[in-house]
Amino acid sequence: MQDFVARPEHGIAWISGASSGIGRALALKLAGEGYKVAVTARDHEKLAELQAEANGLGSGLGGSIIVLDGDVTNAEDMEHVLASIEYEHGALALAVFNAGVYLPVHAEELRREDFEQSFAVNLQGVVNCLVPAVRHMKHKGQGQIAIVSSVTGYGGLPTGAAYGATKAALINMAESLKFDLDKMGIRIQLINPGFVDTPATRKNEFPMPSLVSVEEAAAQISAGLKQQSFEITFPKRFTFALKALNLLPYSLYFWLVNRATGWQERPRADHHRPVTPHPAE
Ligand SMILES: NC(=O)c1ccc[n+]([C@@H]2O[C@H](COP(=O)([O-])OP(=O)(O)OC[C@H]3O[C@@H](n4cnc5c(N)ncnc54)[C@H](OP(=O)(O)O)[C@@H]3O)[C@@H](O)[C@H]2O)c1
Repeated sequence: MQDFVARPEHGIAWISGASSGIGRALALKLAGEGYKVAVTARDHEKLAELQAEANGLGSGLGGSIIVLDGDVTNAEDMEHVLASIEYEHGALALAVFNAGVYLPVHAEELRREDFEQSFAVNLQGVVNCLVPAVRHMKHKGQGQIAIVSSVTGYGGLPTGAAYGATKAALINMAESLKFDLDKMGIRIQLINPGFVDTPATRKNEFPMPSLVSVEEAAAQISAGLKQQSFEITFPKRFTFALKALNLLPYSLYFWLVNRATGWQERPRADHHRPVTPHPAE
């Protein structure tokens, strides 16, 4: 059986985290292909700007943007978004769960909040979207879902203790769901980008290898959504090299990552800062 490949005539495309970066560029790309794209994020003004930009492109765009505000950490919000799509706009054909936050973690200054927020948005946020989307697609007997993870989910990297952990969990989640979703006529894919130039990565204090633009990322994702492969990853030379790195014995892996990032030579994160005493002291 051929896997279902969504097309604009099948219904709505829903993108979470579409107010900036990859999600925003993908929304414009899919609208340009003729989709009605439902966009979700917390920042209503940015979503309205995106809609205005799409309207400004006029009939040349082919599709349109539907603004459906919501916080992915709030399960009720996501149920409402899905209900709006279903009852006001039509069937949900394609869902791209893209909303995410990157909070760098330094072991010298561990903060519970960084882990809690990362897990709430990147992991539980996807679950909150997934539950109503799968229920809806099961009822329709078809649908396509893509989860945005990251190559940082392949293996541990400096500062990735929270972010990378959520992305590793998403990779496992998508792989595990595929076994059942295949039998339900619902196609699931995993999107693992390398570095993309977005507000999230602009705060990085290191040169990002093989950095691509959001337009390039959107083009790669759009092309991948039409192909049969489970994983959509780009730029391939960089992401395949990272994948290969994770097949190495740990001793070699840690040595190579330290060497490639220069991490071992960097000062500790608490360097020059006063050490916070333990509350018991
Ligand atoms: N940039 C990269 O190099 C890269 C590489 C690999 C993977 N990724 C992944 O790609 C995805 C998009 O990242 P990006 O780089 O495009 O980041 P971005 O520009 O910071 O965009 C993140 C999006 O997520 C939304 N978001 C955050 N918290 C939310 C919440 N609680 N509820 C709803 N929406 C929320 C933001 O909207 P609001 O703030 O308006 O809610 C925004 O639209 C993320 O999952 C990221 O992990 C990025």
